[in-house]
Amino acid sequence: MTASYRNVQKVTTHVLQEMKLQGEKIAMLTAYDFSFAKILDGAGIDVILVGDSASNVMAGHTSTLPITLNEMIYHGCSVVRGVKRALVIIDMPFGTYQGNSKEALSSAIRIMKETGADAVKLEGGKEVLESVDRILSAGIPVMGHLGLTPQSIHKFGTYVVRASTEDEANKLVDDAHLLSNAGCFGIVLEKIPAKLAERVTREVKIPIIGIGAGKEVDGQVLVIHDMLGITQEFSPRFLRRYHNLSEEIKGSVTAYINDVKSLDFPNEREQY
Ligand code: KIV
Repeated sequence: MTASYRNVQKVTTHVLQEMKLQGEKIAMLTAYDFSFAKILDGAGIDVILVGDSASNVMAGHTSTLPITLNEMIYHGCSVVRGVKRALVIIDMPFGTYQGNSKEALSSAIRIMKETGADAVKLEGGKEVLESVDRILSAGIPVMGHLGLTPQSIHKFGTYVVRASTEDEANKLVDDAHLLSNAGCFGIVLEKIPAKLAERVTREVKIPIIGIGAGKEVDGQVLVIHDMLGITQEFSPRFLRRYHNLSEEIKGSVTAYINDVKSLDFPNEREQY
């Protein structure tokens, strides 16, 4: 594997396109705050997504729908302050771009102006194309998101794998072409059959980032709280846990509680 893009000073949408052409996989993770963003960036992650999954993992909501534009901007500002190299993408929250392309543009402009991020991401294909076009016309890079689109959870009622019928698969392929032809710089494909993701990756010229979409895509994304094992209740088949941080944190907190209660902390060297 070539490691040629690990040394770039700043990842841009152009770099991602080059990575696709050269066959170097793109590593993307979510972050929502300064401290995590700084660690991820220091480790060499290519792309940081300030996902609206913040609604779940940061705010404790049961879906991504409640998070507001102001809240996404707050998370976005915190992340951007911690990042030097990674491309930072911010999710446009539910209700800020669907159905009204002028509102979509002003939401995207607020995100870019107030956070200093590099790009926005929004969910959907043909239904949101007018918004995508208008945002792109202002020079704002847009990433699409197809397959399982959590902002539409109430329409589908379930988080099962998407595009498993021929009709749904054909619509997804058409939508991917529409987004690519419109000028999006990349697309996230969430929880779809691996063969379908492979087909889209082959047919569409822009980078395809998968989550539960197999390995024949141009890159992968996971929610940081899931891959570190901070969240415990969410364990879809596609999730690889690299840590069991929830248990480790509990262990440390228990030790701290015991030390405080037994007067072991602070000791002589830990006081003035
Ligand atoms: O909000 C999010 O974290 C996302 C990823 C799951 C792709 O959109």
